[in-house]
Amino acid sequence: MTYDFTTLHPRANSGSSKWAAMQAIRPDLPADVIPLSVADMELLNPPEIAEQLGRYAAGTILGYTRPGDSYYEAVESWMARRHGWQIQRDWIVTSPGVVPALFHMVLAFTQPGDQVILFPPVYYPFYNAVRESGREIVECPLLEKDGRYEIDYDRFSQLAETGKLLIFSSPHNPVGRVWSREELEKLSAICLEKEVLVLSDEIHFDLILGERPHTVYATVSKEAAEHCAVCTAPSKTFNLAGLQTSNIIIPNKELREKYQKVQSQLGLHGCNMLGYQACETAYRQCEGWLEELLTVLRENRELVRTFAAAWLPGVKPVELEGTYLQWLDCRDLGMEPKELERFMQQEALWFTDEGYIFGTGGAGYERINLACPTWVLRKALERLRDALQRRG
Ligand SMILES: Cc1ncc(COP(=O)(O)O)c(C=O)c1O
Repeated sequence: MTYDFTTLHPRANSGSSKWAAMQAIRPDLPADVIPLSVADMELLNPPEIAEQLGRYAAGTILGYTRPGDSYYEAVESWMARRHGWQIQRDWIVTSPGVVPALFHMVLAFTQPGDQVILFPPVYYPFYNAVRESGREIVECPLLEKDGRYEIDYDRFSQLAETGKLLIFSSPHNPVGRVWSREELEKLSAICLEKEVLVLSDEIHFDLILGERPHTVYATVSKEAAEHCAVCTAPSKTFNLAGLQTSNIIIPNKELREKYQKVQSQLGLHGCNMLGYQACETAYRQCEGWLEELLTVLRENRELVRTFAAAWLPGVKPVELEGTYLQWLDCRDLGMEPKELERFMQQEALWFTDEGYIFGTGGAGYERINLACPTWVLRKALERLRDALQRRG
């Protein structure tokens, strides 16, 4: 490996949201307990980014700044190189995060009281984006068959009669599915027929661990592209969430303008100039780092799979095709969700995202973050093994 994926960088009391949440629950923890929750990495960023930000900040007046030509070229080139997606510069709308963009697009594309469809268990801020703008959440739970999740097309087709918008996670957080082109075609056929717009949140699209490649929703067909917004960002891929820079890509001019209008009504004018620099540097210089990261994530996925089979009776990892978030089926431990949470936090010293926060179908599951040095993950797994053995 050229890059360092083994050093653990201290983050306790650093302001990290993930660490602060753990320390609030258990301020007295031993120093070697690392949280496995919130989706950022316990891994240093690509050094190219830190170097470029240092140089840039030292040699630049930090005034109001728009992304320049080279920023847009870097984003366009990334989409073409990594995703086979030819985009045009004016399709890109920058946003200080995908979650804010989802909130704003729900406001832009629907009216109060409109129905917005979700596929739970799903990333819980999707619920907030709908609820907090006075729209109605309609759930179309994923179907789980022998540990594999699928879209319930029949139910979706019924809900699409009255639903106006779908917020879709692709790859899917938390169940780790990478949707195939065929699945997306089936989905888009329903959406086009029943006039359901799609917000395709593809923030994890670079983190593909299995064989199946990621398909950008907008590449399914020209019609699908005209009826969607694709949410992208360098933040999951390169661990840049704190820089709050994302690219929302909307081929349809009318939709784009509606979204931009809401942005401006809310007083939002662009992102942080250091975020633009980091995104450009990542997309131009950090592909080598990403390839090595993917190797580490695959190793960590394999470690969880083999360790659970050998040592964690009642804990079944769901096959992780994409994202670095491993969905663990703990229902066979026979604990109620709150008891499971207590056991994980108090007995195993596991600070994870509890399955129940992801809505329908989440209870009895844990979501753990694999983006950490392999030795850190191993220690966590050993702590869970020991806690299960003590429980008998
Ligand atoms: C599916 C999904 N969307 C959005 C986000 C967060 O996006 P942002 O930090 O750009 O608001 C996450 C973070 O985990 C996520 O998993």
